[in-house]
Amino acid sequence: MRRSGSQRAALAAVAAAVFAAAAAGCGTDEPDLVAGKELFVERCGSCHTLARAGTSGVVGPDLDEAFGPARRQGLGEGTFEGVTRDQIANPLRNGQMPADIVTGSDADDVAAYVAAVAGKPGEDEGRLAAAGVAEVSNEPIAASGGQLEIDASPTGALAFASTRATASPGPLEILSANESPIDHNIAIRDGDRLIEGDVVGTGGTSSLTADLSPGTYEFVCTVPGHEEGGMKGELTVR
Ligand code: HEC
Repeated sequence: MRRSGSQRAALAAVAAAVFAAAAAGCGTDEPDLVAGKELFVERCGSCHTLARAGTSGVVGPDLDEAFGPARRQGLGEGTFEGVTRDQIANPLRNGQMPADIVTGSDADDVAAYVAAVAGKPGEDEGRLAAAGVAEVSNEPIAASGGQLEIDASPTGALAFASTRATASPGPLEILSANESPIDHNIAIRDGDRLIEGDVVGTGGTSSLTADLSPGTYEFVCTVPGHEEGGMKGELTVR
């Protein structure tokens, strides 16, 4: 049987994965903290603050506050890992945290990362330092041709691509592509007036049109907890 290119590529990927597993010690269950951090930012950070992961969600408890006191009293990381693993599988029934957001070894990796860093001062180092970090610029994004594009961070962190934007007065279309795993939108706030784009999931683009006179406006994501978590910036029209 002849195999298509994509089948061959898939087989090669499986072979590479098997080889990587063997190289990693075949079956030893050492958690992967880098993967755990990336998954945490992607799936958990929109609801939880965890300083070392750079997340600032406010829907669930601040995990530095949740684990910090026990860590300072000398409680071991194994305990935090167990609590986190259990919380992922068994959150409050009818609560806001969905069960099994991550499963299997992904859940082990996330729990190990949370246990390793929650309530610990300082910053992540080495390979962990760059993992999952949102690239947020303070360079203003300028509108051109009546369009302004302010994308959501693709990592799942609560951030837009920049905290600042500029446009000329007049009609303006604002677009915000969402490649992250969670829902987002973009909205403009002008005093009491809120002009909102639709909330969109992964792969969608939220958009709005507004006729703006010179002044300063806020752009935000209106999904609950996202603006408070850092999804906001300033649009200057002049
Ligand atoms: C949609 C929001 C949401 C997401 C996403 C979420 N959580 Fe939660 N989390 C909550 C809420 C709300 C609570 C409060 C208790 C409950 O509802 O079970 C909580 C509680 C917790 C606790 C217990 C904290 C304490 O004070 O004891 C831990 C640990 C935790 N979450 C870890 C995670 C991890 C790890 C992820 C990602 C795999 C995650 N959460 C994703 C909302 C969320």
